[in-house]
Amino acid sequence: MSLVCRPARADDLAAADALVVASINDLTVRHGFGPMAMASPPSFQLFSLQDDPDGLWVAEDRGEILGFAWSWVCGDVWFLAQLFVDTARQGQGIGNELMERTMEHARKSGAIHKALITFTFNRVSQGLYMRHGLFPKMPIYLFNAARERVTQALPEPPLRAIAIDGSTTTMEKLAEIDTCAIGVSREKHHRYLLSDPAITGVLLYAGSGSIGYSYISSNGHIGPLAVRRPDSLRDAFATALRLAADRSVEKVSAFLPGTCDSALSLAVNQGMRISFPMLLMASPGYGDWTQYLPRNPGFM
Ligand SMILES: CC(C)(COP(=O)(O)OP(=O)(O)OC[C@H]1O[C@@H](n2cnc3c(N)ncnc32)[C@H](O)[C@@H]1OP(=O)(O)O)[C@@H](O)C(=O)NCCC(=O)NCCS
Repeated sequence: MSLVCRPARADDLAAADALVVASINDLTVRHGFGPMAMASPPSFQLFSLQDDPDGLWVAEDRGEILGFAWSWVCGDVWFLAQLFVDTARQGQGIGNELMERTMEHARKSGAIHKALITFTFNRVSQGLYMRHGLFPKMPIYLFNAARERVTQALPEPPLRAIAIDGSTTTMEKLAEIDTCAIGVSREKHHRYLLSDPAITGVLLYAGSGSIGYSYISSNGHIGPLAVRRPDSLRDAFATALRLAADRSVEKVSAFLPGTCDSALSLAVNQGMRISFPMLLMASPGYGDWTQYLPRNPGFM
């Protein structure tokens, strides 16, 4: 094997996505969960590559991509969005090689906190991340349900929702909310979400004050969602559920951290079911999310 790890290029991203999808589905099928991932245009990967090319790496052998690592940084938070190795070449040190490159990205960025979301049932990834100083912090469950089931006895939306625009005032509000919820502003990522026509973002108001925000995808998926205070989370999630269920979607879904009791209770009461158990791993001292629902394991 003549393995080379090199910075990823834009024209690697479609092949890298195909590898990631195959690797995820191999893992989830092997563990009895059925396939989880579907191929999609690598838009967020491309956005990250243009924003910070140091964060994306491929491992290749004679021109064939065998592994992909992708991390991004916002302020003092570094996040590992993806680390995947070709199913036929796992357990041969490729993941560890890519991990070294991506940890160097974290060091160079000066980030204080490091985090990622992995599969609760993958022993290999968890052991590998612990070797690199990231430890299990809390479960994150992917919940979903048929739209009709969620709407039964769903409370009227407790909050007023106003579409997010790209204005400076709106961006300032989003930055304040993110700082309260996850300790860092993600303005560039809000601008990315706003550019996607399949995603709607709303600021959530109680009276005249903005208490949080939520994004809802055209397929009924909720997230990211964040609030200024933990005691607003239930109302924010209830409002997002209503907005998602008011669309002509088949399913409504969301990633709910194990620390978000009020949102978990509401999800269960509305008939939502756990489809995939995931896990937040982080450097010590980061990741007490009681005000934040991530969008997915790559976006956070
Ligand atoms: C996770 C993944 C990226 C790791 O890459 P890899 O090339 O298979 O891993 P490596 O061979 O470099 O390293 C494996 C390391 O995992 C750790 N490991 C493996 N099994 C373990 C176990 N049962 N308990 C604890 N640690 C374990 C060890 O540190 C091991 O290194 P060692 O053999 O030198 O001791 C790869 O297996 C993969 O793509 N898995 C499926 C998808 C996935 O879960 N990706 C992570 C998404 S966040």
